[in-house]
Amino acid sequence: MKDVAGKTAVITGGASGIGRATAERLASNGAKLVLADIEVPVLEATVAELRATGADVIGVATDVADLGSVEALRDAALDAFGEVHIVFNNAGVGGGPTITSTPAAWDWVLGVNVDGVVYGMSTFLPLLLAQDEGHIINTASLAGLGGVPGMGPYCASKFAVVGMTESLFYELAMIGSNVHCSVLCPGFTKTRIHESDRNMPAALAAQGRDPMAEQTASIAKQAVENGIEVEIVANAVGDAIIDERFWILTHERVALATTRQRLAWMEGGQPPRIDLDEAGKAS
Ligand SMILES: NC(=O)c1ccc[n+]([C@@H]2O[C@H](COP(=O)([O-])OP(=O)(O)OC[C@H]3O[C@@H](n4cnc5c(N)ncnc54)[C@H](O)[C@@H]3O)[C@@H](O)[C@H]2O)c1
Repeated sequence: MKDVAGKTAVITGGASGIGRATAERLASNGAKLVLADIEVPVLEATVAELRATGADVIGVATDVADLGSVEALRDAALDAFGEVHIVFNNAGVGGGPTITSTPAAWDWVLGVNVDGVVYGMSTFLPLLLAQDEGHIINTASLAGLGGVPGMGPYCASKFAVVGMTESLFYELAMIGSNVHCSVLCPGFTKTRIHESDRNMPAALAAQGRDPMAEQTASIAKQAVENGIEVEIVANAVGDAIIDERFWILTHERVALATTRQRLAWMEGGQPPRIDLDEAGKAS
């Protein structure tokens, strides 16, 4: 899509962090915005602030883990703007370790991070395919390109997002579609992802954190706070839409080094050395 001016972008997790920053970037290019989020007061504040800057934007309270809610989001977007061209399946939550996460904790992370992306694609792709124009961006992570300690459900969810988006890429090529897709794999970025528990179902929050989860959460908090600015990620997303580029690697050096080390590991070498400080540096 060479020009996003006048196009409509739906952004899940649009109230804060990477979603909000990308909304600002696309609005600056003249796109119309539909921001979807489960955190309604924050969503309302973001919509009001963007409107005050002249953006054409609506907010829709949405739980991406609920198919009916995502379908209602699509209907609200069509009611407001008549068409949808860009779908950024970005809402996501962090999780705990593989060893100690309960089945309910796995279900929550996979529900938001995997089902949320699946529902975004199954709900909006038919519209994009019918008009033979559009771009879907799915948010994965560096944690979708290699395992990370303390983040089993999160890694599982992000590997799934990378895999399904690669599949989509090949399928779109197979049918000769003019719809494009990208997968966003950021490293640590300064957002509220380390405070994801704020959106956790009450029954799950009541379980509390075990010592291993406490330890890995505090390491992740530090890494997020030392991460890159959100605008770097937002601009990478905006540029990838215009350039029709599949991989969005905001921390390219780390992404490629880890991938090369994993290959060497598969070939009989040593496992990659995981350095969370490095995963917060863009170059
Ligand atoms: N910040 C990082 O270091 C980092 C690194 C790699 C990938 N990511 C990914 O980036 C994406 C955006 O996260 P962020 O870093 O901006 O964090 P964030 O917490 O600032 O933003 C996430 C947004 O998603 C919303 N959300 C959570 N559950 C939802 C649900 N069920 N339905 C709808 N909205 C929901 C939250 O309310 C929030 O506004 C996530 O998918 C995350 O996994 C973040």
